[in-house]
Amino acid sequence: MKLLYRQMLSFFAVICTLLIIVTISFVNVTNRTLYTNTWRELQQDADSLIQDSIKYDQTTHQFKGLKTASLKSNASLLARQNVHFAIYSADHKKMFASNGYTAKLTKKEWQALKEGKTIQKKMDRPRLNISDKNKQKKSGPGPHPKMTDILRPYFYQGKLVAVVSIGTFVSTVEQSRHQIISNLLATFVIAMLVALVVSYLLARSSTQRISKMRRATHQIARGNYKVHIDTPGKDELDDLGRDFNQMADALQASQEEIRQQEERRRRFMADAAHEMRTPLTTINGLLEGLAYDAIPEEDKKHSIQLMQNDTRRLIRLVNDTLDYEKIRTNQISMDRKVFDATAVIDNLRAQLNKKAALQNDELVVDMPKVLRVYADYDRFVQIMFNIIQNAIQFTKNDKIEIAGRRLPKGAEFAVKDNGIGMTKEQTEKIWERFYKADRSRMNTQYGESGLGLAIVHHLVDLHGGTIKVQSKLGKGTTFTLFFPDREYAPHTITPQTTDEQQTAGQVEK
Ligand SMILES: Nc1ncnc2c1ncn2[C@@H]1O[C@H](COP(=O)(O)OP(=O)(O)OP(=O)(O)O)[C@@H](O)[C@H]1O
Ligand SMILES: [Mg+2]
Repeated sequence: MKLLYRQMLSFFAVICTLLIIVTISFVNVTNRTLYTNTWRELQQDADSLIQDSIKYDQTTHQFKGLKTASLKSNASLLARQNVHFAIYSADHKKMFASNGYTAKLTKKEWQALKEGKTIQKKMDRPRLNISDKNKQKKSGPGPHPKMTDILRPYFYQGKLVAVVSIGTFVSTVEQSRHQIISNLLATFVIAMLVALVVSYLLARSSTQRISKMRRATHQIARGNYKVHIDTPGKDELDDLGRDFNQMADALQASQEEIRQQEERRRRFMADAAHEMRTPLTTINGLLEGLAYDAIPEEDKKHSIQLMQNDTRRLIRLVNDTLDYEKIRTNQISMDRKVFDATAVIDNLRAQLNKKAALQNDELVVDMPKVLRVYADYDRFVQIMFNIIQNAIQFTKNDKIEIAGRRLPKGAEFAVKDNGIGMTKEQTEKIWERFYKADRSRMNTQYGESGLGLAIVHHLVDLHGGTIKVQSKLGKGTTFTLFFPDREYAPHTITPQTTDEQQTAGQVEK
């Protein structure tokens, strides 16, 4: 069964139960009230009967009987209102009866009357001398019409002097009762119809919200993650709506991440292919020249040398690319420990002195005697090597200063050159893969893949350190690196940077 109908039925069942309970109690109360009112009226009639007809001695103050004339006139008056009565003396003898009305009085009742109690009877079949036609009309077929009556004792000077039995036809009371009940039934039917409509509306309001969610789920299934559900309230469906929205957001975020990853992969493939095409084209051209003997004998050695250079470049490119991908995807293991950075820098200077000399540069080291640094030894060498090599690469006939110092929470290094420098825009892009500020300088003998700083950046990230650059076109560049001590370095680090990461002017990781 559809949820709509199920909910509608349950709402309807609740409303119906309530209505039935209310109706039954109302009928009961009405019934009771009708009889109570009738008995009260009968009692008033009985009281006035006795008051009107009582006879007593003025001097002895003795009870002397009832005035028959007054009783008769009252009897005919009351008969028109379907009220009949009989009066009994203290010794249980009938003194007067209208229409031959005779009540059955049991001993028990008589005893109660003597004690001054008024007895009310809901249904009684007293004897009555009324015409059969009238009888039929009053209470249907049967020996005597049903009556409701009361028995009321009257005392004079503390002595029981008379008992009045007065009653009216039950049919008169029942008629009003049926009238009220039939009105009530009509109202009940209308209320049921209204309940049905209300149940439907209530059920529809909640199922409509579910349908809305269903539609939104279909949208998600079709790949539209931007869909959102309104959740203004605080009930369970609104909670579900909020969870749904969260799920949609999460799906959208992961979809975006997948898109970005795919974009990065695509760009990476394009960049790598582009970078490899130049040396491969050079090698191919030279090989064709050699194959067709188009290169003069004296140039052959130079051609082979060029091919060797390009092959080396290709190997470096492939190695760097693999290295970069490994670092980026967190596939390298870091073995961090504390060692003396001054010794490392001295070694690097010795290694790179020759390269610096080729550019007519001078490497100036300004390090304390011992400078403790907490890093992975090989990766630290790789980082500093790259930065110093870049400085040599982009500086001619000048000094390159390499400095180190201890800071409260770690070791800081600065590599300052007075080389070609960079503009602000160029500085912002140097951390990108394959970025080269000056494409015309691609074929230098030190580096040209444009991967060096991208790798350095990720490696510094893995150490929990920072790298900043300050540069001025034509003036020079300074790279400042910071490696935190063991107690300030994070335990395991996941590089947070993306390939597109770049910050302006002064660049910090
Ligand atoms: N000290 C510097 N002075 C001026 N420009 C620099 C300096 N260091 C880096 N750059 C600029 O940043 C670019 C990126 O440097 P990066 O080290 O990533 O690549 P690369 O040196 O060109 O190639 P490789 O991958 O072989 O290192 C360089 O091409 C250069 O334009
Ligand atoms: Mg480099």
